[in-house]
Amino acid sequence: MKRVIRAMSLLPLAAGAQASTWLPAVAATTRADRVDAHFLFLLLLTGSVFFLVLFAVDLLLFANLRKAPDQVGDNRPNSVWHAALVGLVALVVAVLLFGAGARAYLDQQVAPIGTQQIDVTVGEAGQWEFHYPGEVTTDTLHIAVEQPTRLVLHADSEPVTLVVPAFRLREVALPGVPAATWIDAREPGRHFIVGERARAAGTAGLQSWAVVHEADGFTTWLASQTDILLSMPPVEAGRVLVERNGCLACHSVDGSKLTGPSFLGVVGRQETLTDGTTVVVDADYIRRSILEPAGQVVAGFPPIMPSFQGKIRDAEIDAIFQYFQSISDARETR
Ligand code: HEC
Repeated sequence: MKRVIRAMSLLPLAAGAQASTWLPAVAATTRADRVDAHFLFLLLLTGSVFFLVLFAVDLLLFANLRKAPDQVGDNRPNSVWHAALVGLVALVVAVLLFGAGARAYLDQQVAPIGTQQIDVTVGEAGQWEFHYPGEVTTDTLHIAVEQPTRLVLHADSEPVTLVVPAFRLREVALPGVPAATWIDAREPGRHFIVGERARAAGTAGLQSWAVVHEADGFTTWLASQTDILLSMPPVEAGRVLVERNGCLACHSVDGSKLTGPSFLGVVGRQETLTDGTTVVVDADYIRRSILEPAGQVVAGFPPIMPSFQGKIRDAEIDAIFQYFQSISDARETR
């Protein structure tokens, strides 16, 4: 089962956050600055051309008003050079604008080398899911300040749009066509995320937060998510560890005998070993079984269990023991 770390308590704040009819209040990435500069330049250019043209039309109109009843039009030849010059200036401006836009666009497609990647999907319940290295999944986006982060948006059955106004980011993924971009946040903070799905009504589920951590804050955060001992109670962590380490390929938790003995009721069980001795299963025995399985082999089973020495830490073995104990207790009370 997939485990998504939730932070829903943040959401009520999201409703009116950073709403603005002008540019979003925060420009949190270099990309945001660039987009804003481009936008303002275009606005100034089109605005000034608009007023210049209005002004010129007025000027010509007034200058050429008929001044006497018998005045007739003046038939000036059109100047080709004049028209060509205006055309040329417009062409140069258009090419420069296109060039700057294309460069910014291409820069956004190609992330710097060594960029950490976060995959973005929409979960079954219609909420964002951000997938980090190490199989960590959250419903809020976490990135480190000043560290380029690549975002790859995936859509499975319908087009999805991811929008982070403070990053000036808007990505659309089509089913089978992921959209990739990258961001570099300038300072720690928290920014509103919205999204849209083609067929779903409303965007309620796709509201979330982008959390920008201090550089080491992010590492600590990721470690705390990866280290499940810090993020869940031991019994639960033990269950996840048994799942993650592939123990269930050989051991059942329902009492049935697979390649190895079932974990159900294992704690306190008396086992006969291949050398004829008997042991009562306790924490130490379980530790030895995991680290040196060949040392004590349960009679009737092949000695094929691999050692997990160096793969499972002591604290994790404790959690696994507590999980075993919980399913052993559950059996006793049945
Ligand atoms: C490839 C199959 C296999 C895998 C994977 C495996 N085991 Fe085992 N395990 C066995 C077999 C077979 C035995 C019985 C023989 C023995 O004692 O070595 C056993 C025995 C044990 C015992 C002693 C059980 C008893 O009733 O005395 C424990 C505890 C145990 N395994 C825990 C684990 C844990 C925890 C994992 C995962 C981290 C794991 N095993 C992964 C095959 C496996």
